[in-house]
Amino acid sequence: MIASAPKARFLMCSPEHFGVTYAINPWMDPKSWACDDRALAAASHREWTTLRNRLLELGATIELVRAAPGLPDLVFTANAAVVLDRKALLARFRHPERQQEENHFESAFQLLQQRGLIEAVRRLPESLVLEGAGDCVWDQSRSLFWLGYGPRSDAAACDVIEDVFDAEVIALELADSRFYHMDTALCPLPRGEVMFVPDAFTREGKAAIHERVESLQRIEVGIDDACQLGANAVCLGDVLVMSNCSDRLRSELTQRGYRVVTTPLHSFLRSGGAAFCLTLRLDRVSERGCIATEDAAAA
Ligand code: ARG
Repeated sequence: MIASAPKARFLMCSPEHFGVTYAINPWMDPKSWACDDRALAAASHREWTTLRNRLLELGATIELVRAAPGLPDLVFTANAAVVLDRKALLARFRHPERQQEENHFESAFQLLQQRGLIEAVRRLPESLVLEGAGDCVWDQSRSLFWLGYGPRSDAAACDVIEDVFDAEVIALELADSRFYHMDTALCPLPRGEVMFVPDAFTREGKAAIHERVESLQRIEVGIDDACQLGANAVCLGDVLVMSNCSDRLRSELTQRGYRVVTTPLHSFLRSGGAAFCLTLRLDRVSERGCIATEDAAAA
């Protein structure tokens, strides 16, 4: 019997309470948001719903975190946790503005655990910050995590991630405040390429990427695409979902066998987020996790 491919499962949060009411990154300007807040809120609803519908059309399953008043950035569920092999390492946020999301995400993961979608929920030691998959992205082809540190996450979180997931972590220091979360500047693709914004990383960071990713597999994202958060893509099989994509980047990705689906997320760009930030994969399984599941099934 041929087993059917498991569905991708994402965590999302509807933008009922989304807005730009404070500034914790250079994209955020509460004054300009306030000038047009009704129209922007309506746009964010349309954009988010279209993104969700695209993912559903592509066969994904979507779980929702309840939206909450006063937590405008809760929509960026990529920041909720790092998830692999049905384990979740909950985020701890750098800025007080987002720290109130921690309990909310914790309750959401407890519910996922009760439903059997997550097996274990772990917390970071109190001294460390790590903003979930926003800064810690799983690279399935290389069986490793890329960790972006500096603005929002601590390099020292490396050891905890290695410990919890029993996986290698490559830490890259971030160097440009516009790319304050690593997921705005690096995206491992399903066929083994890594799409990244070179100048978002320090010299050492770039060198670490070059060491791990052979030149044919490196896709450098130009600054124009980067400033439209083109590297912040959701990968679903060979489909890459993103807010914007230049002709040049699209043709490079198409030549490599991908289909680019653009779905504008301009109101979220005003907060510094796009497609990847608005989602969190719950079903990623490492090779190790796969073997463990097979062993459990055979037992
Ligand atoms: N306004 C949010 C913040 O500054 C945006 C988060 C975007 N999320 C992401 N994974 N890059 O925290």
